[in-house]
Formats: sequence, structure tokens, C-alpha cells
Amino acid sequence: MSVAKETVGRKAVAYIESGMVVGLGTGSTAYYFVDELGKRYASGQINQIRCVSTSTQTEQQAQSLGLPTVTLDEVNHIDVLVDGADETLDSFSGIKGGGGALLLEKIVAQYSRKIIWIVDQAKRVDYLGAFPLPVEVVQFGAWKLFHTFDKAGMQPSFRKKGVDSLFITDSGNYIIDLHLGKIEHPEQVAFELKNMVGVVEHGLFINYPNIILVGDQQGGYETIERPTIIQ
Ligand code: 5RP
Repeated sequence: MSVAKETVGRKAVAYIESGMVVGLGTGSTAYYFVDELGKRYASGQINQIRCVSTSTQTEQQAQSLGLPTVTLDEVNHIDVLVDGADETLDSFSGIKGGGGALLLEKIVAQYSRKIIWIVDQAKRVDYLGAFPLPVEVVQFGAWKLFHTFDKAGMQPSFRKKGVDSLFITDSGNYIIDLHLGKIEHPEQVAFELKNMVGVVEHGLFINYPNIILVGDQQGGYETIERPTIIQ
């Protein structure tokens, strides 16, 4: 159990108001957010919300708590999306997909008016890349992409489920993790990956969150908020 993850997960519920459409992230930190939201909804403190999940795992948790869930296509937009991340920069970019939900997370983020990332201190970094960068690829020709990454020195590995099976995402794809060490130019890497046929999505989230809540092991947290430009 991580005090830091639980702290920011539960604190993030403060951003949710009755009547909102809420995006539910995926992972062990988002778990606490969904849990707290479920409690507040059950007690009537927050009502008339609709929730859009970023994975079947989160969808199951939300439903088990009695939260009203809808699909992305049933709503115009999401008011607030609360999600975890694997690495974050204070310049509001990061790596996501450690839980394998990067594609749905990025799609939901695309339609979210406010995005809040909840992370523990260890994930706040000066450079991205120590965490392996997940790349979601279609199954057909996946080994071809693997060899391309390998030749480019990107140290790829297929994401596994257990010892023998490959991990399959909610959309039926594989994940290849790239062990890059230090990504000097995330925008360039993101651009190049996006242009590779067979790559469905990558875990570089450039300029996504409006707010990052960074938790510590003492139960405290810091709020990093993107400045808003008032016109
Ligand atoms: C799932 C994700 C998660 O948000 C990310 O991996 C962080 O997970 P955790 O909160 O368990 O550390 O991107 O695809």
C-alpha cells in the first residue's frame, strides 16, 4: 500500500462536483480516486454524475461501487479526468501506459476539459525515459516493428502477461516497451512513433494535464497547476 498514492487519489475527488461527467483513470493510484468517488456518491455528497472509464478494469471497479457509467460516445465531453502516470515533468508532460491502458486513456483525455494526474513523488522526474515507454501496436506484423525498434537501439521488449503469454490490451493489441533511458526530445520521439504504420498509440503524453497532484509518503501532497491565460 502506498500512502502517497492513496492521498492524492482520495484528494482528487475535491475537483469533482455534482452533475459532472467524470473520466476515471486506470491503475493503482486511480483506484483510490474511484474508490473515494464511489463512497461520496453512495453517501449522496456527490450526485448526478456520469463516469467514463479508461479500461475494463476501472469499469468493473466503478460498477461494483454503483457509480453510473456511460461510454465516451454517450457524452459530449468530460468535465474532469483523473488519472495516474508513470513519470511526470513539471512542464505537464509524462509517460503513461504502465498498466497497459494508454490508448483509451489518451482518447478519453482528448475529450476532457480538465485533466488531473495523481502520482507519488518518485514519478516526478527531470527527464522522461527511465520508465520504459509503452507503445501499443497491432498484432499483425508486431515482430517487424519490434526488429525496427531493436535496430534503432530502442531496446524493445514485448509486454508479457505471466511467463508465456503476451499482454493484450482492451483494444486487442500488443504493447512493446521501449527502454530508452533518457528521452532528450520527447516531442520528436512522439512524432516519429506516431508516424510508424502499425503503431496505434504511444505512452508519451505531451502537454496533457492541467494539474498534477504529487503525493509523499507522509500523507502530504503538492499541487502543480498549469497557469491559466485570462483573455
Ligand atoms: C495505466 C496508466 C497508469 O495510470 C500508470 O501506469 C500509473 O499506474 P499506477 O497508479 O498503478 O502507478 O497509465 O495505463
